[in-house]
Amino acid sequence: MLQRGHPASVSPPVKRRGRAPGCARARTFLPVAVEDLALARVAEHVVGLGDLLELLLSAGLLVLVRVVTQRLTAVGPLDLLVRRTAGQAQRLVEILDAKTREKLCFLDKVEPQATIAEIKNLFTKTHPQWYPARQSLRLDPKGKSLKDEDVLQKLPVGTTATLYFRDLGAQISWVTVFLTEYAGPLFIYLLFYFRVPFIYGHKYDFTSSRHTVVHLACICHSFHYIKRLLETLFVHRFSHGTMPLRNIFKNCTYYWGFAAWMAYYINHPLYTPPTYGAQQVKLALAIFVICQLGNFSIHMALRDLRPAGSKTRKIPYPTKNPFTWLFLLVSCPNYTYEVGSWIGFAIMTQCLPVALFSLVGFTQMTIWAKGKHRSYLKEFRDYPPLRMPIIPFLL
Ligand SMILES: NC(=O)c1ccc[n+]([C@@H]2O[C@H](COP(=O)([O-])OP(=O)(O)OC[C@H]3O[C@@H](n4cnc5c(N)ncnc54)[C@H](OP(=O)(O)O)[C@@H]3O)[C@@H](O)[C@H]2O)c1
Repeated sequence: MLQRGHPASVSPPVKRRGRAPGCARARTFLPVAVEDLALARVAEHVVGLGDLLELLLSAGLLVLVRVVTQRLTAVGPLDLLVRRTAGQAQRLVEILDAKTREKLCFLDKVEPQATIAEIKNLFTKTHPQWYPARQSLRLDPKGKSLKDEDVLQKLPVGTTATLYFRDLGAQISWVTVFLTEYAGPLFIYLLFYFRVPFIYGHKYDFTSSRHTVVHLACICHSFHYIKRLLETLFVHRFSHGTMPLRNIFKNCTYYWGFAAWMAYYINHPLYTPPTYGAQQVKLALAIFVICQLGNFSIHMALRDLRPAGSKTRKIPYPTKNPFTWLFLLVSCPNYTYEVGSWIGFAIMTQCLPVALFSLVGFTQMTIWAKGKHRSYLKEFRDYPPLRMPIIPFLL
C-alpha cells in the first residue's frame, strides 16, 4: 500500500503511461471519488495528482482545480491515507489480566512483525515487576501461553490484539535449577557414605562398609549425578531459559529426599548385600553402565538436533551410534535409559527405597514422555508411527 503513495515521478515510465486512462477517469469522477469511493481509490487519484493537475491546467479549468484542492483539504485524504496505511502497518495491543480482565496496558504502534518476546519487553517497561520471563501472554484467558517467537501478524487477531496476562511467579534459570537439583543428591549421598557424625551413631563415625557393593553403589550414584551436572553445563541446549522458583523446592525435595533415604539404607552399618551376591551385582552393573551410555548417547543426539543458540525442535532419528537405535521404537529413549539405570541400581543394592525411587521416576518420566510424544505427533505429520512414548510396543 505505501508504495502506491510514492510520487509519480519515481514510477517507471511504463506505469506512468499505464495510468493515463486513469487520469481521464479522474477528471470525470473526481468529486464522486472524494466523497464516495473507497480510500484505496482516492489514493490512486492522489498518486496521479501530478498528471491530473497537468491535465486540468492545460484545459484551463482553474476553478475546478480550486474546488478539488479545497475538497482534498477538507476531506484530508492524504492524512487519512497515511493514517489508514499506518493502521495497517502497525497494531494496537491491549493486555488484560487473565483473572480479573482488568486492563493492564495499552500498546499502540506495535509493528505487525513484533514477536511476543518483544511485546513482553514493551509490557515490562510499564510494569517492571513482571520481567519477561515471568509473563505468560495468551489469546484466551484460559488458553495456552503464546511462544516468545510467535509473530503478532500471524496470530488470529485484528488490528487491536487483546492478550491476556498471567504472572508465572518469580523465575530462576534452568541451569541453576539443574545444578541445585543434581548437586544436592551427590553431596547428600556422600555424607552417608562417609558416615559423618549424627547419622548412624557415634561408634560408626567416618567408618567404612565392608561390602564391596556399597562402594560400587557410591561410585555409580556419584557418577550418575556428576554426569548429569556436566551434561547440564556442556551438553543440553535448553529452549526455555527459566522455570518458576517454586518448582525448585518441589524438585529438590524429591531428589534430595530420595537421595538421603536411599543413601541411609545402602550405607547403613547393618546393610545386607544382595541375595545372589557377586552375580547379581555384576548383572546390575552391566545394566547400569549400558543404560548410562545409552542415556548419554541420546542426550548427544538431541543436542545435535539443535544448532547452538536456537530453539529448533526436530524429529530425532537413530544415528550411527547403536545406542540411539532405540529412537526407532520410542520417542524419549533418554527416559527409557534413565529408568533402566535406576532399575540396575535397584538390583545392585537390593534396596526398597531405590526401587521406589525408580518407580516414582518412571511414573514422572512416562507422563512427560507421553506429553512429548503427543506434541511430536501434533507438530510433525510424518512422525514415525511405530514409536511409543517410553517403552517399546507398550507405553
Ligand atoms: N530420575 C528422574 O526422575 C529424572 C526425571 C527427569 C529427567 N531426568 C534426566 O534428566 C535428563 C534431561 O531431562 P529432560 O526432561 O530435560 O529431557 P528432554 O526433554 O528429553 O530434553 C533433553 C534436552 O534435549 C532437548 N531436546 C529434546 N527434544 C528435542 C528435539 N526434538 N529437538 C531439539 N532438542 C530437543 C531439550 O530441550 P528443551 O529445553 O527444548 O526441552 C533438552 O535440552 C533426562 O534425559 C534424564 O536423564 C531424570
